[in-house]
Amino acid sequence: MATMQQDGLIQKAQQLQHQAVQELQALSSVKECEEFRVKYLGRKGQLAHLLDGLKTLPPAERAEAGRILNALKETLTAELEKRLTQFALAEKEARLRAEALDVTLPGRRHKLGSLHLITQVTKELEDIFVRLGFEVVTGPEVETDYYNFEALNMPKDHPARDDWDSFYIEGFDDLLLRTHTSPVQIRVMQHRRPPVKVVVPGKCFRRDATDATHSPVFHQIEMLWVDRGITLAHLKGTILAFIEEFFGKNFEARFVGDYFPFTEPSLQVHVRRKGSDRWLEILGAGMVDPAVLQEVDYDPEEYTGFAFGLGVERMAMLKYGVDDIRMFYQNDIRFIETF
Ligand code: DAH
Repeated sequence: MATMQQDGLIQKAQQLQHQAVQELQALSSVKECEEFRVKYLGRKGQLAHLLDGLKTLPPAERAEAGRILNALKETLTAELEKRLTQFALAEKEARLRAEALDVTLPGRRHKLGSLHLITQVTKELEDIFVRLGFEVVTGPEVETDYYNFEALNMPKDHPARDDWDSFYIEGFDDLLLRTHTSPVQIRVMQHRRPPVKVVVPGKCFRRDATDATHSPVFHQIEMLWVDRGITLAHLKGTILAFIEEFFGKNFEARFVGDYFPFTEPSLQVHVRRKGSDRWLEILGAGMVDPAVLQEVDYDPEEYTGFAFGLGVERMAMLKYGVDDIRMFYQNDIRFIETF
C-alpha cells in the first residue's frame, strides 16, 4: 500500500515527466538540449532533487519509488540523446553548406607579363655573340671623365667630345652619365691580357635632341675583340654574321666611312629591309686606335683589335617595324603587349 510520502514523490515524478516531455518537444538546438540536461538531469537538477527525496521514504517503499524515478531518468536521457543527435547533424550540415566552396566558379586570371622588347632584343643579341665565342661583361652607368673620354683618345678640349654631350653630376666635376658603352673597353683591358673577346650591354645617356630616332636614354651593346693578327676582315665578317643571324635574309647591310677618336679606320654600318629606300645607322665600328691600346699597356705592334657599339633600340626598330624610338619608353600597354 502506498504511503503519503510515496504518493507525493510519484506525483512529483509525473509532473516532472509531463513538463519535461513538453519541453523536450520544444527544443530546437544543441545549446537548448544542453540547458535541458542541466535543468533536469544535472547533478543539481530536478531529477536529482527527487532522488534525494528517496531518503525520506520508509525503507520498504524506496525500491519502488527508486525504480520509477530511474525509469523516468532513462526515458528522459534517451529522448534527449535522440533530439541532440538530430540537432547536431542538422547544425553540422548547415555549417558545411555555409563553408562550401563553389568549385564551378571560374578563377581569377592573373595577367602574364613579358620582358620589354629592349630586354628581349638585348638577350637575343647576347646569345648570338656568346655563340660566336664572346663573353658578356658590364660596367658602371656613372662614369669618370677618364673612362668616358680621356682613355678613349679624347683629351679635354677634343672637338669630338661635342658629339657625346652628357649629363654631369653637380658637385662632382669628374663624374658623368656615360654617353656610350665604350669606356668598358678600357675597364676590361686594364684587367686582362689579350686575347680579349667581350660584349657589353648597357644603358647610355646623352644630351641629344629627342626625336623619332634619338632618346636621351638608350641602350648599346659594345663589342671588343683584341688579339694577334686581327684585321678589318674579322670586323666585316663578324658584323655581317651577326646581322644576318639577327635580321635574317630579308635585310641588307652597308659599310660607310666615319670618324671616331678611338678607332682608325672608323666606319658605320647601315641596315635596311630589302626593297626599302631607308637605311638606318645601327652601329659605329673600327679598328682599335693604337693610342687606346697603349693606354692600357697593350703593344700595338703585337696586338690589333676591332670594336663596335650598336644601338639596341635601332636594331629593335628595324626588325619589328617600330618607327619612333619614343614608343619604347612611353609605357603604353598596347605597344608593350605587342611583343
Ligand atoms: N661609342 C660610339 C658611340 O656611342 C660607337 C662606337 C664606335 C663604338 C666605334 C665602338 C667603335 O666600339 O669602335 O657613338
